Amino acid sequence: MNETSVPVHAPADTLEGMKVAIVGAGLVGGAAGYAMVLRGSCTELVLVDIDAERAHAEAADISHAAPVSHPVRVSSSGDDFGAVAGAAVVVVTAGANQKPGEDRLSLVGRNADIFRQIIPQIASAAPQAALLVASNPVDIMTALTAKLAPQASVLGSGTVLDSARFRSLLSIRAGVAPQNMHALVLGEHGESEVLAWSSASVGGIPLSQVLKVDQTLRSEVEQGTRQAAAQIIAGKGATNYGVGAALALITEAILKDRRAVLTVSGPSSYGPYLSLPRVVGAGGILRTLTPDLDPQELEALRHGAEVLTKAAQSLPELR
Ligand code: 2OP
Repeated sequence: MNETSVPVHAPADTLEGMKVAIVGAGLVGGAAGYAMVLRGSCTELVLVDIDAERAHAEAADISHAAPVSHPVRVSSSGDDFGAVAGAAVVVVTAGANQKPGEDRLSLVGRNADIFRQIIPQIASAAPQAALLVASNPVDIMTALTAKLAPQASVLGSGTVLDSARFRSLLSIRAGVAPQNMHALVLGEHGESEVLAWSSASVGGIPLSQVLKVDQTLRSEVEQGTRQAAAQIIAGKGATNYGVGAALALITEAILKDRRAVLTVSGPSSYGPYLSLPRVVGAGGILRTLTPDLDPQELEALRHGAEVLTKAAQSLPELR
């Protein structure tokens, strides 16, 4: 047993029912936990990492945000997966990250080895939990998780972050709040992702009626969205805040049955796991919506599905 606790900020009996576990207390796991405390996403949070000292330090640091934000009980554990018991959502961020110049698909072998060890332990300790996968390549790791934990509700963070990047860039140009910019990135969380320009809208009004969408704007926004991760990794070694906030949002949608429409990764009629707009509520994905795409976008989505199908062939579980 390697569990450590940091101070409790509210009586335990007022905080039942909304426990989240984050497996992997690196930059992404830490940012997700921090976002959850600032947003009050849950009432109890445990960070689990093979590096117990790291998990403890991260949990202690995050817990100090609780008195000035939301009363979340924060604790940590080393590689004792018993600590995830009782969690309604387990967020999996464990594994290697891209180095500058590396793409997400190159991580598949390394992260699959880690998942084969940890996912069965997580599923047995928290059989009721929704498993929310963030490790890259996220579509393939999510599909692998579903194979390794066939009874669990499994979803991946997918392109929630890419959609946020797309919406952010468009909202700046349109001079509106990003919350009112509806725009989806679909398919792979990776090189083949598809920016669904044809359905983008501002508060329900087609984007082209609000903003002049010419070739220059399209290519600037496409590049800014697609290259965001590589540029951030080149500058600071990793991305973590955007994905951390996205993980908190998805977790809340599950815990609070929000029925939020989010581009999370899950099984698809295109073949592999990939991102489509999905209704996320109690327990995970409740429904997949069919986006209205133009012929080029549809073709790009099919191409992305082929890329993912091919990449998945390297894992025996997904052949
Ligand atoms: C991101 O897009 C690296 O997948 C991570 O920020």
